Amino acid sequence: MDVRLQKVIADSGLASRRKAEEFIAQGRVTVNGQVVCELGTKVDPSGRSTIADLLPGVHVRVFPVGRLDFDSEGLMLLTNDGELAQLLLHPRHHVPKTYLIKVKGMLAPEHIDALEKGIMLDDGRTGPAVVKKVGKATENSWLEVTIFEGRKHQVKRMLDAVHHPVLKLKRVKFGPLTLGDLPTGHYRYLTDREANAVRELARERQDVQAGGGQARARQARVKRARAKWARNTRSSRQRNVSPKQVST
Ligand code: URA
Repeated sequence: MDVRLQKVIADSGLASRRKAEEFIAQGRVTVNGQVVCELGTKVDPSGRSTIADLLPGVHVRVFPVGRLDFDSEGLMLLTNDGELAQLLLHPRHHVPKTYLIKVKGMLAPEHIDALEKGIMLDDGRTGPAVVKKVGKATENSWLEVTIFEGRKHQVKRMLDAVHHPVLKLKRVKFGPLTLGDLPTGHYRYLTDREANAVRELARERQDVQAGGGQARARQARVKRARAKWARNTRSSRQRNVSPKQVST
């Protein structure tokens, strides 16, 4: 049965219907790989299940914080606090995400070095990852990889770049949260301590950024003040008076 695209997005819990309409109008939504900007578009949502199917009994709209590929598994934080989700996802906030991965073959030390320095991908160089070998099978290796960004298919693309394709991927940590032994397809509520730790992380990162913003604003004020001082100096030289003191 064909349904309006914005309803499918809203029903999946990704965004409200109004937000979904904005995303569609901004060209941020694809259907079967094609960008769809037409608000009336109808789609057939049969097939893949969504995260909403795993949340029986949850009656508030919750947003996934970040994404996992369809063939990946692991920790997915869900929240009804859109602002918190944005803070945790902001690329400048570098929230660490750790993945347990199985890759084809054995990684040579130079490949681990390359991952830890940052890898050039088609959308630019990644930040440095932290890589830990956690085990090996005869033909494959298990690694724990921590990244501080959240680009699409990032871990898989990084490992492809060093010619060790990912065979399995599970997110085991997100910021201060760990997956622990929560079974696949199940959910649980955060403890108060965990919820506070997540909020604390978001607040810290926001403060760091605001600090940066304040520093930039101060630099801009200093620059404006210098320019004003230079202008005053020039015009007072012409009029032969001393320039006014300017404050920053
Ligand atoms: N990196 C990937 O390649 N896939 C995921 O699902 C998450 C991170």
